[in-house]
Amino acid sequence: MRIVLGVGGGIAAYKVASLLRLLTEAGHCVNVIPTEAATRFVGTATWEALSGNPVSNSVWDDVDRVNHVRLGQEAELIIIAPATADVLARAAAGLANDLLTGTLLMATGPVFFAPAMHTEMWRHPATQANVAMLRSRGVTVMEPASGRLTGADSGPGRLPEPAEILAAALKAYDVAQVPIGGELAGRTVTVTAGGTQEPLDPVRFLGNRSSGKQGIALAQAAAAAGAHVHLIAAHLEVPVPAGLQVTRAGTARELRSAVLAALPTSDILIMAAAVADFRPAEVTGTKIKKNDDGADPVITLIRNPDILREAVELRRTGGGPGVIVGFAAETGDADGDPLTHARAKLLRKGCDLLVLNDVGQGRVFGKDETAVTILGADGSEPVTVSGSKREVADAVVTRVAEALAG
Ligand code: CTP
Repeated sequence: MRIVLGVGGGIAAYKVASLLRLLTEAGHCVNVIPTEAATRFVGTATWEALSGNPVSNSVWDDVDRVNHVRLGQEAELIIIAPATADVLARAAAGLANDLLTGTLLMATGPVFFAPAMHTEMWRHPATQANVAMLRSRGVTVMEPASGRLTGADSGPGRLPEPAEILAAALKAYDVAQVPIGGELAGRTVTVTAGGTQEPLDPVRFLGNRSSGKQGIALAQAAAAAGAHVHLIAAHLEVPVPAGLQVTRAGTARELRSAVLAALPTSDILIMAAAVADFRPAEVTGTKIKKNDDGADPVITLIRNPDILREAVELRRTGGGPGVIVGFAAETGDADGDPLTHARAKLLRKGCDLLVLNDVGQGRVFGKDETAVTILGADGSEPVTVSGSKREVADAVVTRVAEALAG
């Protein structure tokens, strides 16, 4: 997502370089806006190099691009760290006397402050009134950590660790996204996404062409509908969006363990992951080498557990989620068209909904546009939906909500 990272003029600015690293490594596009004072602690070059974006703190740079308007409108999340007493005061008063405060006044997304200052400044009634004012406007102001401050003094006022700031800011973002009264409000949805990779030796694996885009779109659609989303991510070619609970799984068996652990607290399971049906029977501890005798290697495959079926079975015995959604990637063949195969799969798997992807002739994998047919075990007519993966995901989520209500 697009994040503006505002840096106040405090000694803790140096710690924010690590926060910036965490953000960019998680795939976010970050624009850093240091205050004039912040550049006395950490130079503009550091922020430019680490963010990969140009950095300015003046509304008089790049005037033709009207930076405070553009950055404020585009930012999906604004994080300010360290938020000094001065930045908090200016933000609370609604001043717009530099690029950072101007951007804050233009912001439409969630804003998160991580304060850092001396204990006396933090406890001063003026600062506390500013914090209360900001919080009353729905802005998140984190409590500072307690501990050693710049000099020999110690107490509340220390900048929390970068990982803590990141987690708290993403949580604030998550909360801001949840629409009150969304169709999945209060529900927990487990979504699996991406393709599993089954190791053969330390350097090779058997994989598949799933990019994970559809699974991620489903996770986002469920979150937008108000659900708490637990994403179980196999190999993905797209970044994981902020604000989701994420468990990584490499192989089908790891994915199975993660799903089984998530099921007791899940209302809905969406199995969008492309799970390998088979894995090499033997995984060698060392790389498989070409033999001098020229013999071709033979790989024996064994079946992986069918996670979807296990979830259905669990529900039959009283432990599974209310709605279970399976996916089917089908090509037509001599035995029938994709819809015929999907109908048979819906029966075989025993899930409530089956989302059919016709993957014949190179369609679907890695593409942004898609078309699916949603089949219901209730015998309803299959419905075809086409559009972006997110549009399709929204349609699936609506159908899931109906199934849950029914
Ligand atoms: N699935 C699963 N566990 C597996 C394989 C698949 O849970 N070991 C899930 C997938 O996430 C998907 C659904 O089952 O939601 C359909 O997967 P697919 O591989 O198409 O179905 P199969 O039963 O393997 O059917 P076939 O290979 O015969 O087409």
